[in-house]
Amino acid sequence: MVRINFLIAMALATGSLAASNCQAQDNACRTAPNANMAQCSADKAACCSTAFDDCRTAPDANMSYCASEHASCTGSQPTPVETCQTKYDSCRVAPHANMSYCVSEHAGCCSDAFDDCRVAPDANMSYCASENSACKNQK
Ligand SMILES: *[C@@H]1O[C@H](CO)[C@@H](O)[C@H](O)[C@H]1NC(C)=O
Ligand SMILES: *[C@@H]1O[C@H](CO)[C@@H](O)[C@H](O)[C@H]1NC(C)=O
Ligand SMILES: *[C@@H]1O[C@H](CO)[C@@H](O)[C@H](O)[C@H]1NC(C)=O
Repeated sequence: MVRINFLIAMALATGSLAASNCQAQDNACRTAPNANMAQCSADKAACCSTAFDDCRTAPDANMSYCASEHASCTGSQPTPVETCQTKYDSCRVAPHANMSYCVSEHAGCCSDAFDDCRVAPDANMSYCASENSACKNQK
C-alpha cells in the first residue's frame, strides 16, 4: 500500500510538473524578441494536450486530477469533448468496469454535447459536426 501511494504521488508530481513546464515554455515563448503569439498559443495547447494524454494513460491514472491539471494548464474550462473523454476514461478504468455501459454513456455524452452545440445562439454547424465526430472517435 505504501508503495502504491508512493507511485501515485510520483505520477501526480510528474503530471503537475508537465503542466508547469508548459507554462514556463509559454512564458519564454511570449517574452522572446519578435514573439509570434499565435504560435506560442498553439505550442502551449499542444504541450498541455500531451501532458493530459500522458496523465490519463498512466497506470492508476486519477482522471479528475488529470482533467483539473489540463484545465489549469490551458487556463480554460475543458471543452465538452474533453469532458466526455475524461468521463469515458474514468468509467473504463473503474474496477469491474462494464464496457458496454461506458460505451453507451460516452455516446450519450457526445450526443448531448452536440445538441448543446447546435442549439446555441449563432451555432456554427460545421464546427459542431466536427466536434461531434472527434467526440465519437475517442478511444
Ligand atoms: C484524484 O484527484 C482529485 C483532484 O486532484 C483528488 O481530490 C482525489 O483525492 C484524487 N483521488 C485519488 C484516489 O487519489
Ligand atoms: C452493463 O451495462 C449494460 C448497458 O447499460 C446493461 O444492460 C448490463 O446489464 C450491464 N451488465 C452488467 C453485468 O452490469
Ligand atoms: C465554423 O467552424 C469551422 C470548423 O471549425 C471553421 O473553419 C469556420 O471558420 C467557422 N465559421 C465561423 C463563421 O466561425
